[in-house]
Amino acid sequence: MITKRAVSVRARPIVAIDGPAGAGKSTIARRIADALGYVLVETGAMYRVVALAALRAGLSWSDGARVGLLARDLVERRALSLERNTILGIRVTLSGEDVSDAIRTPEIAQGSSLVSAHAAVRAALLDLQRQAGRDGGVVLEGRDIGTVVFPDAEAKFFLTASPETRARRRYDELVAKGEIVTFAQTLADVRRRDAQDERREVAPLKKAETAILVDSTNMSIDEVVRQMVAHVKAVSAPT
Ligand code: DC
Repeated sequence: MITKRAVSVRARPIVAIDGPAGAGKSTIARRIADALGYVLVETGAMYRVVALAALRAGLSWSDGARVGLLARDLVERRALSLERNTILGIRVTLSGEDVSDAIRTPEIAQGSSLVSAHAAVRAALLDLQRQAGRDGGVVLEGRDIGTVVFPDAEAKFFLTASPETRARRRYDELVAKGEIVTFAQTLADVRRRDAQDERREVAPLKKAETAILVDSTNMSIDEVVRQMVAHVKAVSAPT
């Protein structure tokens, strides 16, 4: 891994972690935030909440105008919130209701990928993401953090792994939660989401030119975290 020594203008850097579904972003982002004492912002959870709220409101995920208005309304009413609980992990609420588990189903994963393709939905969530990160000392993970949300983030990573490896991890997670799925179905879901996220017109999933590519196919989580934390420390302003 190449370590760039650009020194941060913020007292503590913004760490941007992008990559496809199942690359281990959530686990790795959490471990990095813990190691550095930074806030963690999982932006995918925001798109998942919008998909869930749209489903409940009877809206079609492909109706960009209506789902965009719904997302804007949720943000304005501060109905969507993400909090870190040391025991339970990230807790996500929608109008005060804990929806942390409800947003983690394969159906909502697919819906979140569809709603995230709409410009109006992305615009509604962008402010929220920028507010959460602007002071630094934060790890944001998603698909467009290094390209759109914080192109000036001091530490940018693009985390990936082969589709088979990512599907295997997702499959093991779903089976552990008691979901009835097959590996073939999980792999097909991973490939379909990759295609949707990479091919959309607005803020497609892609590596920022200045992001460090981390391929975790043959690396342990510990090793990935160690290398990424070392890089963040290297770009942090001396205290
Ligand atoms: O990371 P995740 O699986 O929870 O993300 C759910 C969906 O949200 C994903 O398919 C694409 C979308 N997403 C996005 O478009 N931009 C982000 N910054 C984060 C997620």
